Formats: sequence, structure tokens, C-alpha cells
Amino acid sequence: MITGESGTGKEVLAQAIHNESGRKNQPFIAINAAAIPENLLESELFGYVGGSFTGALKSGKKGLFELANNGTIFLDEIGDMPNHLQSKLLRVLQERQITPIGSESIIDIDVRIIAATHRNPLKMTEEGGFRKDLFYRLNVFQLELPPLRNRSNDIIPLMHYFTDQRFTFNKEAIEVLHSYHWPGNIRELHNVANYLSIIEENSQVDLSALPRYIIDSVYSPENQKQEMQIEKEQLVISEKTDEKMTREVLQAIKTLNDMGKSAGRKHIILLMKRQGIEIGEGKLKKILLTVKDLEMIDVYQGRTGNILTAKGKAYLKIDDQIANRT
Ligand SMILES: Nc1ncnc2c1ncn2[C@@H]1O[C@H](COP(=O)(O)OP(=O)(O)OP(=O)(O)O)[C@@H](O)[C@H]1O
Ligand SMILES: [Mg+2]
Repeated sequence: MITGESGTGKEVLAQAIHNESGRKNQPFIAINAAAIPENLLESELFGYVGGSFTGALKSGKKGLFELANNGTIFLDEIGDMPNHLQSKLLRVLQERQITPIGSESIIDIDVRIIAATHRNPLKMTEEGGFRKDLFYRLNVFQLELPPLRNRSNDIIPLMHYFTDQRFTFNKEAIEVLHSYHWPGNIRELHNVANYLSIIEENSQVDLSALPRYIIDSVYSPENQKQEMQIEKEQLVISEKTDEKMTREVLQAIKTLNDMGKSAGRKHIILLMKRQGIEIGEGKLKKILLTVKDLEMIDVYQGRTGNILTAKGKAYLKIDDQIANRT
């Protein structure tokens, strides 16, 4: 099960998993549950025999599950699938068999299912859009794709990739691209790259070449407000815990994130120790809880550990400015 905001590359990742798997020479079939009309979805997925309903082909039609046999099926926007089909899907997953509409015979199938959603699947089960039993069945291995704003080190390499290495980016342009919110994630970045390829004649991209809406958004009054908000959060932090130490912890997380290293508690303590800062497990826990509540870090299970969010980065930046002022 792959989760992540729109445009973070869920389908790209699903395809990559397939291409690296033992199934790579078998079909990869992608289906968007939200894009196929409800009354066609069932026959599309499971197929039908000739004459089984009005408008059906005489010859019948193979379902996508059968076509994907021995390969991979990518079920996009799984939570948007109608409830009765979700329960059918669950049966397919459990029994590894399908029965085409109007057919009496059962077909054995062996497919890897990769499901995706841009919404929070657990929340969807609570709200009722997504069947709990199906969720647990699919959720054997969850991969969460972080939004682009939280992996800003990917921004420039992706820009180079999408523009065939045609450009270099000056410091201000990089800063703005790193600060921008990227609500459309990599899809949006791809569009910006295409835009630059068309309009930019120089090999160096500076601030003025970037789309106006990005510059405006970064320098918007909203963002100025956010800066003031962050000064308030500084107060919260100093009330709850040690502000200076919090800053060191955030910095350590940033360093580990930037190096692509795991930013779990152990690594943070080790890194800080190397920099001559001693911090105990208890204190670190308290700080991490505080900054998590303030949404300055995202906490991931397993190897990844803690990821500094855009807000966390903004906090470090503002802090710099304040420190420089005093
Ligand atoms: N790692 C990557 N490298 C290069 N291009 C990428 C990468 N990830 C995503 N893209 C590109 O970004 C765009 C969006 O990717 P994709 O369709 O996989 O996103 P998605 O998460 O499925 O989005 P949605 O939720 O809107 O369906 C595509 O054009 C894809 O080619
Ligand atoms: Mg998609």
C-alpha cells in the first residue's frame, strides 16, 4: 500500500517495484478506481462471459485481473472503489481466484497487488469509505511517499533531470524553489521544468526566470505571518523544554535527513555527541514530542525515523536570523 499526496510519484514507485521484481516480464496493469464508472468497474476488473448483460460483447471479455496474471496490478485511489466491489476484491485477495460475471468457472490467479491512495487510509476506514477488512489485508507493507516540500534536496536534481541538465540555478532561485510549498509535488515541479525549458534562453536560471506564482507565494503576506507564528512557537518550546537544545536536535535531524541517513533517536544522540553535545534519551524524547506536536517533524516508523518538515526548516531559518540579530 502506497500513500502520499497527489503527484508524489505513487504510480512511478509502483511501476519501479514491478520492474525490479521477479514479475518484471509479466504485465503491469494500472487501474484508477475513481476514473472508471461504477457500473463498468466490476466487469473491467473480473471480466464477463458472452451475453451476460445488455451491451456485453458476444465474445465476452477478459478482466484486468486475468490479464495481469503472474504480473502486478496497481489499484489507484483504492478508497474510492464502491463498497460492494471492495468486498469482492477482498475475496479475490483471500482466495486468489476470480469468477467472471455470468461465468460458472473459477480462474486461479497469481498477482501482486499494489494499492495507492492520496488520502489517509486509516482515517478513511474510520469515516467508512474504505472497508476495514480490506485495509488490513492490503496494508501488509505500507510505503509512505513524503511530500516534495519535506524532501527539498530532491528539488534541484529533479529539475536537472526534467530539463536534460540544461540549466544551473543561482542561489536565490534555489532558495525560492526550496521554500516553495509544492502542493502538486513532483507533477508540479515537472510542469515548472517544462516552463523553464520553453522560456529560459540562458543556461543560468535566476529568480526572475521562475514562474511569478511561485515567487509570489514564497514572499506572500501569509508566509510573513508564518514567520511571526514561528516566533510564537519559539515561546512554546522554551516553556516546555530547552530551546537551545531543541535547535541542536532539529539541526541534527536536518543533517541526517540531508545525508539520507536514518534519523532515529540513536543516530541523533550519536551525531550530537560527535559535535560535543551531550543529550540524554529522556530529554531527547521530550524535545521530539514537543516539536512533533508543533508539526516541525514527521515521525516515521522503522529506518527513516524523524523527518524535518517545511515548518521545522522554516523554524531553523528564522532562528538563524534572530540569532544573527542579537
Ligand atoms: N522519482 C521520480 N522521478 C521522476 N519523475 C517522477 C518521480 N516521481 C514522480 N515523477 C513524475 O511526477 C508525476 C506524478 O507522478 P505519479 O503519477 O506517480 O504521482 P501520484 O502520486 O500517482 O499522483 P496522483 O495521486 O495524483 O495520482 C509523473 O509525471 C511522474 O512521471
Ligand atoms: Mg497516481
